[in-house]
Amino acid sequence: MDMQLGWKFLHKETFIHTGDTTNFINVPHVIAMVGLPARGKTYIAKKLSRYLNWIGINTRVFNLGEYRRNVTQAYRNHDFFRPDNDIAMQIRTSCAKHALDDVVQWLETGGGEVAVFDATNSTYERRKMIEEVVVKQKKFKLLFVESICDDPNIIEQNIMEVKVSSPDYANMNKDDAMNDFRQRIEHYQEKYQPLDREQEKDYSYMKIYNTGEKIIIHKHEGHIQSRIVYFLMNIHITKRTIYLTRHGESEHNLKGLIGGDSDLSVRGKLYAEALANYINDQNIEGLRVWTSWLKRTIQTVAEIKAPQERWKALNEIDAGICEEMTYEEIQKKFPEDFRARDQNKFFYRYPRGESYEDLVVRLEPVMMELERQGNVLVVTHQAVLRCILAYFLDKPASELPYLEVPLHTIIKLTPVAYGCKCEFIKIPVDAVSTHRPKPEVPGTIEKLINRSNGEIE
Ligand code: SIN
Repeated sequence: MDMQLGWKFLHKETFIHTGDTTNFINVPHVIAMVGLPARGKTYIAKKLSRYLNWIGINTRVFNLGEYRRNVTQAYRNHDFFRPDNDIAMQIRTSCAKHALDDVVQWLETGGGEVAVFDATNSTYERRKMIEEVVVKQKKFKLLFVESICDDPNIIEQNIMEVKVSSPDYANMNKDDAMNDFRQRIEHYQEKYQPLDREQEKDYSYMKIYNTGEKIIIHKHEGHIQSRIVYFLMNIHITKRTIYLTRHGESEHNLKGLIGGDSDLSVRGKLYAEALANYINDQNIEGLRVWTSWLKRTIQTVAEIKAPQERWKALNEIDAGICEEMTYEEIQKKFPEDFRARDQNKFFYRYPRGESYEDLVVRLEPVMMELERQGNVLVVTHQAVLRCILAYFLDKPASELPYLEVPLHTIIKLTPVAYGCKCEFIKIPVDAVSTHRPKPEVPGTIEKLINRSNGEIE
């Protein structure tokens, strides 16, 4: 056995080792970013990592700037990045090697599946060094993702939104920081060698021009790279807002029943009215409204003036044999299932129903489409919204099933820098609470707070 291939122990169920690993699919992956500074590499790296973690692929970003900041004294100015600054160049190369060692170590022994190496990697020499370690020595898969941008507005906006607030510029005013960063880009430009079709013909790579205006894919391999390529083809950076809300309170909510397809309660109808007023008053440009196929979401958007689409994939989690039962009934009738769900809520699958893990798989096409859209209002259900929120807020599977998504509350998501601003707008129409927090003792029922009068039930 080849002891160099440490990953075979981590992934031993996924393939049988017979010596030559060249064509194995289920091996660790490295995604190496390429491009000049301020071309959105970190944005892509973070967003990709969030997506892959959400679909259950353990991913981590390794940012070279952070390695450099850890070893150098406070950043003075762009001179550090001059190509003729030999001392700085040695430091930069040594940081890149160090970061790559960490990438490899995490993939071999840390349970990692995909490492995103977020750096400029802007020369043939640097990319060759990465290929040597990742592919030749470690036999991992490697995909370069190059972001090319010649739109001065996008570059300026990127510098303004994320670069001037970098720790490098903690002691510089905004204008000086902007100027310094522009000069830093010029230093990189002197030596920049974009991925080359001839010189680097054996590499797998993707080139993204002007944030998705044009895309080139070269020799991508296997299903993980295909998913990455597909995801990166769908994202955009246009400003927009996503509004999320549950349906108005339903008849089943009032009775504490899970699932089913009941109508809105009287208070649920009041929420539908208030929601329509809130949304219609704002005249949101190009707004689309998405609901599930269930009556309570369709009734909730009845008065909203915008094109509406129904998605079956937005239906509530299927509780199988527990549909239309109260938690107390489930606990009494299926105590073992009730306990098992508390012990591992993300992976627990209701008999003849679904788990949260299943729900994430079902929602993937919705999320992909959501990435492509502008302003959207999504009206759906508690479990579904937990999955959607976890995607946007980068929450792990362990926290996802416990995220609080109260009734009669609009969740407003606005993309900012590398993440999302999230506001909870509570509409003043009372509703019951359906949130069941993680109990101290699995299988037991703790009190629910009734939002209509603040009392503990
Ligand atoms: C940095 O030091 O900030 C980034 C280095 C690089 O990726 O070239």
